[in-house]
Amino acid sequence: MSDFTRDEFAEVLDTAERMHAVLERPIRRVPTLRGTTIANVFYEPSTRTRVSFELAGKNLSADVVNIAASGSSVEKGESLIDTFQTIQALGADIVVVRHSRAGAPELASRHLDCGVINAGDGTRGHPTQALLDLYTARRRLGDVEGRKIVIVGDILHSRVARSGIWAFARMGAEVVLSGPPSLLPDTMEALTNGTGEVRIEHDLDGAIQGADIVMALRVQRERMQAGLLPDLREYARRWSVNPARLERAQRHALVMHPGPMNQGIEISPAVAYSEQSVIEEQVANGVAVRMAVLYLLLTGEGRR
Ligand code: CP
Repeated sequence: MSDFTRDEFAEVLDTAERMHAVLERPIRRVPTLRGTTIANVFYEPSTRTRVSFELAGKNLSADVVNIAASGSSVEKGESLIDTFQTIQALGADIVVVRHSRAGAPELASRHLDCGVINAGDGTRGHPTQALLDLYTARRRLGDVEGRKIVIVGDILHSRVARSGIWAFARMGAEVVLSGPPSLLPDTMEALTNGTGEVRIEHDLDGAIQGADIVMALRVQRERMQAGLLPDLREYARRWSVNPARLERAQRHALVMHPGPMNQGIEISPAVAYSEQSVIEEQVANGVAVRMAVLYLLLTGEGRR
């Protein structure tokens, strides 16, 4: 996301609108990418991203193959690059990569001639999640320029937050990051240097005041073992998005969560299933946005 321009964001989102129109037809399939092959290579668990890339490819009539580390020759010790080159040799036009190591998709792109899409790498980035979040916000609120988005939770370890900060800041939103200091060090502000307004406000009650969008992030329980979170109940008391806190946001405020959720910890069920929640919409919009990304990459209409 870090080098995406406003025009490039707009191009993806406008293309996603056209894909959305396809998805509203009685037959949700167009022949646009017939004859192409997309390989989903997921080294980490995923429900939303993997399934939506699969549906996106199929809706565009591409052939889609799914490869998980378990059951592949990775278990026999095959290297990452050998695995990707094998998949390319088998005819993949695009490789969609999720990996626990930051930089794995970029490494793949340096060794492959086919297209590579980052479906989440370590704590580094999750660009198509940021695109679908931006798309969901734009559909509901219009242009996000001047809107206030509060991202709350484990920002330090969140690839969703990293990509989201870049995307919303570049589009002119005011980005406020909230969470415990152990999961939100002051250095995070530097992430968006020069791209827009971003600031840290550890106190969520203050941060949420007047927000247009409140995005809660999953608390990763392994952080407790690492000593970064002493107590989940205390975390929920101070940083859970609950009905009382949401009252401080704008009446029209949208509630987002990339999923999967820990209900009762970072978000209360009453908020997650409220009329303000667009969490299911985010999931559904992931298909149109990923169709747009596949289309732009495979037809060469996008710059990259
Ligand atoms: N939001 C997200 O990346 O979810 P999955 O891990 O289920 O793909």
